[in-house]
Amino acid sequence: MIAIRNCRSRSVWDSRGRPTIEVEIHTDTAHGRAIAPAGASKGKYEAHELRDADGLGVATACAGFDREIAPALIGMDCSNQSAIDQRLIELDGTAQRERLGGNTLIATSMAAAHAHARSLGQPLFRVLAGERASLALPVPEIQIMGGGAHAHGRIDLQDLMIVPVGAPDWPTALHWCADVYRSMGELLRKSKRLLGVADEGGYFPEVEGNEAALDLLTRAIDASGHTAGDDIVISIDVAATQFYVDGQYRLSREKRSLGSTEWIELLATWCERFPIRLVEDPAQEDDADSFARFRKRAPRCRVVGDDLVVTNAARITQAATSGAIDAALIKPNQAGTLTESKAALDACTRSSIMPIVSARSGETEDVTIAHLSVGWGAPMIKVGSMTRGERTAKWNELLRISESLGHPPLALLKLT
Ligand code: PGA
Ligand code: ZN
Repeated sequence: MIAIRNCRSRSVWDSRGRPTIEVEIHTDTAHGRAIAPAGASKGKYEAHELRDADGLGVATACAGFDREIAPALIGMDCSNQSAIDQRLIELDGTAQRERLGGNTLIATSMAAAHAHARSLGQPLFRVLAGERASLALPVPEIQIMGGGAHAHGRIDLQDLMIVPVGAPDWPTALHWCADVYRSMGELLRKSKRLLGVADEGGYFPEVEGNEAALDLLTRAIDASGHTAGDDIVISIDVAATQFYVDGQYRLSREKRSLGSTEWIELLATWCERFPIRLVEDPAQEDDADSFARFRKRAPRCRVVGDDLVVTNAARITQAATSGAIDAALIKPNQAGTLTESKAALDACTRSSIMPIVSARSGETEDVTIAHLSVGWGAPMIKVGSMTRGERTAKWNELLRISESLGHPPLALLKLT
């Protein structure tokens, strides 16, 4: 029993210059702290993010924490994560966490996990791993170009990422990705296409459309000295809900709208032309049938569910059973608590699909997800690009974790 003695909340800032809630939980010997991240392309089924009437502040979330959550947690055992999370769910009392807010709940849930680990004097990933002896580092998915809701629709695709599938260990994986990031910067500067960076640190270029962007990325991988399709493969987050308008997929740069059959066909041809091996949210969040059709049409690709499954165990099981997905993102703030996020990850394992622990586009220096990925044994992690402190905080924490484990091999992925 490690009793919670005191807790508090405050409003801090995220990587988009927006307020977000931080929670701090104290025991007799230590304290843990965590900050809620925030999405921009949120799924409609994910836990509600509580904001003030101005749509921005989190004073209401902090007030709810101080008024209801703090008094309920004092005296509880922070080593009993499921009891804490259950209490949070009961206190909120709504299906989508509208009352106290998914943001309030996840900051609290993660802060309790940190308070527990620090009271034991152990790193969080060790505590989460429990008895599991052999720990592996996940393979990173790293954004090189950002589009969609993260870059004012410059490219329709939201994330153009790379996965260093041939890298033997974590330090090498980051080196390879940094090589590609710099090589892409060079290509864009030389061709005067560089407009800036998107919300997660990836470049946003002046390009004619999605295919031109995929072509540039393939060239950047080759120019970096690595082999596209072999050492390094491409992963895209289509985030299709974002450009699904009036029953059509509207490609803004290409100035055309497609029905779902035509859209899936076009996407599948991109997967044949470029070394793409992972495709996230190929269709809008209510169209699992199109996910399944795309999955059949593009057998080289693994289909990843994000907005479709929103870190929810039941939705993941259903999507896996209907043949819609091969993998699912695990974003703790979509669920609201760590216990529910772990249940979602366990649902992936039971259905033989790959869990990918993921950050959000609005992030902070909080590194909890780095620990979750290793502690829970997720084979892959998605955090955004190689640059910006809120992203490198996670990559660098994983470097420290990898070092403490003697740089073990990366989790095995069969993507090529
Ligand atoms: P979000 O998107 O954090 O802006 O919702 C990230 C993603 O879709 O993976
Ligand atoms: Zn996504």
